[in-house]
Amino acid sequence: MFDAYGTLLDLGFITRKAEQAFPGRGAELSALWRDKQLNYTWLRTISGNYADFATVTADALDYSIERLGLAAPRQKRDDLLAAYWSLPSFPEVPAALLDLRNKGVRLGILSNGTPAMLEAALQSSGLAGLFDDVLSVDAAGCYKTARAAYQLGPDRLGMPPGRILFVSSNSWDISGATWFGYHTYWVNRGKHPPERLGTSPHASGETLKDLATLFA
Ligand code: LAC
Repeated sequence: MFDAYGTLLDLGFITRKAEQAFPGRGAELSALWRDKQLNYTWLRTISGNYADFATVTADALDYSIERLGLAAPRQKRDDLLAAYWSLPSFPEVPAALLDLRNKGVRLGILSNGTPAMLEAALQSSGLAGLFDDVLSVDAAGCYKTARAAYQLGPDRLGMPPGRILFVSSNSWDISGATWFGYHTYWVNRGKHPPERLGTSPHASGETLKDLATLFA
């Protein structure tokens, strides 16, 4: 069961689009945008004020543009937001997923993205058709790391979380999934230090290629 954004789908694309839209400010804007987006998911979940990921993503972009004092005509803002619907995958992802499928591994996604966002990005990245199950937390009305969001996986697969391998590049997501009871694999793309949350992934590597080699 894979996380989507940052794990399968390359958010570096957003940074490049942001840099084109706001030369010299792209890295800053995309980093603040992602931070705010995630913060809003956690705040809305803790407080029981769910709004879907398309709304949260747009709100976080609007906040970030204003916070950084960037002058953004509507079209520029809309184009940048649309990038979330047309993401590419990381380069090694299609072959690694195909390899896993050929080894008989059932593949799924469990993401914060809305079903429509996920469908669009799976089309744009060429990953559509590789997954048996594409689950959106939208069905639970809360975001990861709420247990009810992670519970969608065991409910769909009809097996306990300890028999499901949850894969994410987002270390906070790995912490939440490990707390929940999944077997976890951290794709540490950013070579980040481990979170200090009293929990560790069961295994880790740097790309999905590393993950695929674990399966015989
Ligand atoms: C997701 C975000 C958290 O795909 O990356 O769920």
